[in-house]
Formats: sequence, C-alpha cells, structure tokens
Amino acid sequence: MTPKSVAVAGATGLVGRQMLEMLDERNYPIKNLKLLASARSKGRTLTFKGEELPVEVLAEDSFKGVEVALFSAGGGTSKKFAPCAAKDGCVVVDNSSAWRMDPEVPLVVPEVNPDDVKWHKGIIANPNCSTIQMVVALKPLHDAARLERVVVSTYQAVSGAGKDAVEELKAQTRDILDGKPAQPKVFPHQIAFNCIPQIPQSAAFIENGYSTEEMKMINETKKIMGDDRIRVTATTVRVPVFNGHSESVNIETEKKLTAAQARELLARAPGVVVQDDLEAQQYPLATVATGRGETFVGRIREDLSHPRGLCFWVVSDNLLKGAALNAVQIAELL
Ligand code: A2P
Repeated sequence: MTPKSVAVAGATGLVGRQMLEMLDERNYPIKNLKLLASARSKGRTLTFKGEELPVEVLAEDSFKGVEVALFSAGGGTSKKFAPCAAKDGCVVVDNSSAWRMDPEVPLVVPEVNPDDVKWHKGIIANPNCSTIQMVVALKPLHDAARLERVVVSTYQAVSGAGKDAVEELKAQTRDILDGKPAQPKVFPHQIAFNCIPQIPQSAAFIENGYSTEEMKMINETKKIMGDDRIRVTATTVRVPVFNGHSESVNIETEKKLTAAQARELLARAPGVVVQDDLEAQQYPLATVATGRGETFVGRIREDLSHPRGLCFWVVSDNLLKGAALNAVQIAELL
C-alpha cells in the first residue's frame, strides 16, 4: 500500500487515541498525519511514533490533501464535517452513528462484510461497538444455520461513553467508599455500584420503548449481515466496568446447531477466540479482553427452552474492536 495522508478527527478522545495506537501498532502506511479536535484542545500536542504532533482545530478546510480521515468526535461533528472531507476527495471512516443507516453509506465489519467498502461514496461507517462484537460472533453461525432470531442483553463499559464518563466512575467510586454522595453529571443516575438501562445516557428513549442504542443493535445487525429477515431484540445496559463490553446472546437458527458445532464454527471464524472451558472456569472476561483486538466467545450452550436455540457470552474491547481497530481495519481494506 502506498503511504497515505491521514487525519484523525477527535484525536484527543478515548477512541481517537486508540486510533493513533492502532495506526502505529499495525504499521498503517502514513505519509502525513493530521490530528484534529475541538478548540478546547488548541495548543496541545500528542505523540505518534515518538514524534510530537500539534492538535489542530477541526474546520471545513481541514481535509485538503488528506486521503483517509478517521472520525471519532461525536455525531454532530461527523454530520457537519464528513461531507466536507468527502468533497475534498478524502475517504472518511466515521465512528459515530451519524451515517450508519444512510443507504448511500456502507456499514462495515471487515470479518463480516468486507466487500461493502467497494461501494462507498466518500463515507464509510464504523458500526456501534456492541453491534460489532456481536456480528463477529453471529456471522459464522448465520452462514452455517441461518439466524431467525437474536435476543441480546449488554453489559457495557463506561469507556464507551467517553473520557468524562470514565472520570465520573472513578470519582463516584471513591466518593461513595468515602461515605460521600454520588454526583451524576455524565450519566443520569449514579453509575458506581449500579446498572443503568439507558444508553446513550444523553438520548431519550424512543416511542416504542427502546433506547437508541438498542435500535442501533437491531438495525445495524441486519444491514451488516445483509439480511433483513433476522429478527433482533436488544436490552442495553451501562455497568460500572471501566472497559470491555460483555453480552449475553441467545439465538434461534433455522437449522439446528449443537453447542459443539457452534464451538467449532466459532473457533475457525476470523477475529474470534473461543474461551469455553467450564471445568477451568474459563470464559470471556472484560478484564482479559481489554487491550486485545479479538472478540471472545464462551459459555456456549444449547438453549433448554428452544429446540434450535443457543446461548453464549461475547466480550470484546469496545475501544479497540468496537471502535478504533475496526476503523483502522476498514482503512486497510481501502
Ligand atoms: P476535545 O478533546 O478538544 O474536546 P471522548 O468521546 O473521549 O469524550 O472524545 C471526544 C473527542 O471528540 C475529543 O477528541 C474531542 O475534542 C472531540 N470533539 C468533540 N466535539 C468536537 C467538535 N465540535 N469539534 C471537533 N472535535 C470535537
């Protein structure tokens, strides 16, 4: 691959920093790197490959001469600036939800639908973090037995809500242990020692009673898998874990899959690591998945309540496979 001129919009954020790490770790060929953030970060520098680079303020003309831009600076920012970048001939890989369901924009998980990058018109969307790890695990099972229905409940880490959310969990944990009251700012309720069934914390529920995160999992799964017939329902919950999303997934397939067959299919699937040894008390854990790029699957068992049902537990690093790594993998496909 010829070295490219690259920009990272939202470079100072949790995902933005992981994007820089992934570009470095995977030796993405870079001719030039531009770091972009809000006016709040003016004057700051960040280190990339041992070199200090200035953070510039994101503006409409930031993308002249840039070939690939990775965006993780919020939906409003993407909505406004991704078209400017595309107009200047840059290909945007956007981590926000702004463009994901646009029929003109491919929504890509490289292990699942790599060919969809081919029809991009300047913007490619990176799916929701919880969706990515789920579809990586679902794809080999769908190919083998066709999914009829998916029921997922998530246990999502606070890092998915950004750097202020991480600080809030730290501060609240300390305060509560010191006997002081929790002071929720980012989340609508105390997050320390609690579970909040509202994601994103800033968005209202929609008319049908689902949260927007739940609807993302439902709609994005169908788009990525290229199959509208899959029925999906989700309950998404923020838990007081710093990093790494966990999911309880229950599926019903057209063709029966035994637990052993599913284990074998998953063990061979790209990007999946099966951790499923009950005697050794081995199963996927957020603490173990953190810092790793794979999706971990375990607790694979046949559903006692359905003849063609399976249950399993899926864990991945939401900042890596759920965001930065998936975005860099898409850039590599380009
Ligand atoms: P900044 O650090 O200058 O606020 P996180 O999700 O971890 O909170 O990070 C959000 C990222 O998006 C940060 O890099 C933040 O920059 C950036 N960002 C937020 N709003 C804007 C904006 N309006 N223009 C450019 N960058 C933004």
